[in-house]
Amino acid sequence: ALITLRQLLDHAAEHGYGVPAFNINNMEQGLSIMEAAKACDAPVIIQASRGARQYANDIMLAKMIEALAEIYPGIPLCMHQDHGNNEATCLGAIKHGFTSVMMDGSLEGDGKTPASYEYNVDITKRVADMAHWVGASVEGELGVLGSLETGKGEAEDGHGAEGELSRDQLLTDPDQAADFVSKTKVDALAIACGTSHGAYKFTQKPTGETLAMSVIEKIHAKLPDTHLVMHGSSSVPQYLQDLINENGGAMPQTYGVPVEEIERGIKMGVRKVNIDTDNRMAMTGTFRRIAKENPAEFDPRKFLKPAMAEMTKLCKDRFERFGTAGNA
Ligand code: G3H
Ligand code: 13P
Ligand code: ZN
Repeated sequence: ALITLRQLLDHAAEHGYGVPAFNINNMEQGLSIMEAAKACDAPVIIQASRGARQYANDIMLAKMIEALAEIYPGIPLCMHQDHGNNEATCLGAIKHGFTSVMMDGSLEGDGKTPASYEYNVDITKRVADMAHWVGASVEGELGVLGSLETGKGEAEDGHGAEGELSRDQLLTDPDQAADFVSKTKVDALAIACGTSHGAYKFTQKPTGETLAMSVIEKIHAKLPDTHLVMHGSSSVPQYLQDLINENGGAMPQTYGVPVEEIERGIKMGVRKVNIDTDNRMAMTGTFRRIAKENPAEFDPRKFLKPAMAEMTKLCKDRFERFGTAGNA
């Protein structure tokens, strides 16, 4: 059944577990996630970016979510807009059946320029008011995602802040976080702690300097009742880098957010953990493997079926390690 982010994360907080929020763009990803959730008896957050909505079409996404809820009736399912950039994006998602939206006011509407605190409070509060009128939940973001190693935003894969960022911008300030939540009334707060989107987060295994989990602890101390969200939480596991590179890929060696760090975060109030890149790598690595093993193959299902199995395996692992399993 479809439920809101607020309902789902309140349960997670009460029982001390975290919930992965997996991105989807197509039917195969949706089915892979739901299959894992069913196997683990886990509640689910499925999210669509603006890019996903453009790729799949809003009506296709809306019907797909309806279908997934019908195919898996026992699984609580929250449908969430990932990184909404203005009121229209967020309200458009709600109109198409999303039960939750992220208003990411950490960047201006162009998605590239770090926003002022006042801009962020103002637009996030406006979206939260409107969403709450119609029973949808809202996630806000305070702090800009980007690398503490280089001070760079994420321009590399085409979204995120451009140019050099200061350590202050890259780490959420705990006092400001408390003010932000009290002014905007968001249901969940995304924080910045040195993670970034995509595969290239860290050039070596992160340390407390480059992945500042201590910030989360400080925010949680100020805001014990706020559900915290970690973006850029793919672990970019070595076995998936190897799967891609051993089958004709050429991804430079890279490091993601270790799953142990996320487990620690969950103990410190992280409730929603955003994962897209790991699932992309699971699917693409499998496409490459099949293409290499059987160059004569031309039926897409012969690629997609095993790719779905690889994605389901990854989702199951996260449901188990985040404590989501058994909570549907
Ligand atoms: O925001 C980051 C997610 O991984 C979605 O990425 O905008 O390429 O769909 P996307
Ligand atoms: P990854 O790129 O680490 O999977 O992060 C996804 C994300 O934060 C979506 O909002
Ligand atoms: Zn994100």
